[in-house]
Amino acid sequence: MGIDIEPTGAAVGAFVNDLQLGDVDAPTGVDLLEALGEHGVLFFRDQDLTPEAHITFAETLGEIDVNVFFAPNDTYPKIAEVRTRPENTYVIGEAWHTDHSYETAPALGSILVARQLPSRGGDTAFSSMYAAFDALSDGLKETLRGMRAVHSSHEAFGIGVAKMPESERAERFQDEFPINPDVVHPVIISHPISGRPVLYVNRSFTTRFEGWTERESRPLLEFLFEHGSSVEFTYRFSWEPGSVAIWDNRCTWHKALNDYRGETRLMHRITLKGCPIAA
Ligand code: SIN
Repeated sequence: MGIDIEPTGAAVGAFVNDLQLGDVDAPTGVDLLEALGEHGVLFFRDQDLTPEAHITFAETLGEIDVNVFFAPNDTYPKIAEVRTRPENTYVIGEAWHTDHSYETAPALGSILVARQLPSRGGDTAFSSMYAAFDALSDGLKETLRGMRAVHSSHEAFGIGVAKMPESERAERFQDEFPINPDVVHPVIISHPISGRPVLYVNRSFTTRFEGWTERESRPLLEFLFEHGSSVEFTYRFSWEPGSVAIWDNRCTWHKALNDYRGETRLMHRITLKGCPIAA
């Protein structure tokens, strides 16, 4: 592989050194996707990536999946803005989640570029769902392998955003939301690139197990949400001007830390289309 990869030393993530994302060609894009399947998240420092170059780079890796809930960037509709204003108390993505699991073919990954950072705080935490799966008992692995779970955008976006005061919602979310039908995915999937087993449920979008009520599902889901966020599976990334992170949505969770009250944070996110996932 022609790229310089330096693992974080934690259960998830690696830094890629000496690479400008604006210069990436198709073969290097293939190497990056392979590294992403292995490490879950790739971090890059000192990037000089304009919004145009962000789009071009994303299209080198795959097809762009435009997020239908976030307010788009006015000039670049393929870029979703993840924005916090000084008056906001809620931060987009502050619960552990994986992007777009409510789609039939969940997003492959997301490319997040720092545009404006708070003076301190605003890190993003990542967790490895390979490690979360590996640490389960053989008995629970076997049980979960036979199960499927329902994923829905309705709670987080439909109900959650509708309940927000206008000051939290304005300029961060679309005015109208599509009602997506709920989808069902296996609880344990085989990662499309690495082939490794992954725990595939998340707090923001998984509502219940197929054939179970929400009430019946809650205790086991709560256990899996707590388990997946265990510190030993995580890595916390501190953003600097010029930082970029690319994560694989099939084998990681992430969470934006809400610890910079009164400041602005603006990130540009492009999400890449994925394929249907299977056990
Ligand atoms: C997200 O959940 O996509 C945003 C993560 C972040 O802003 O750190």
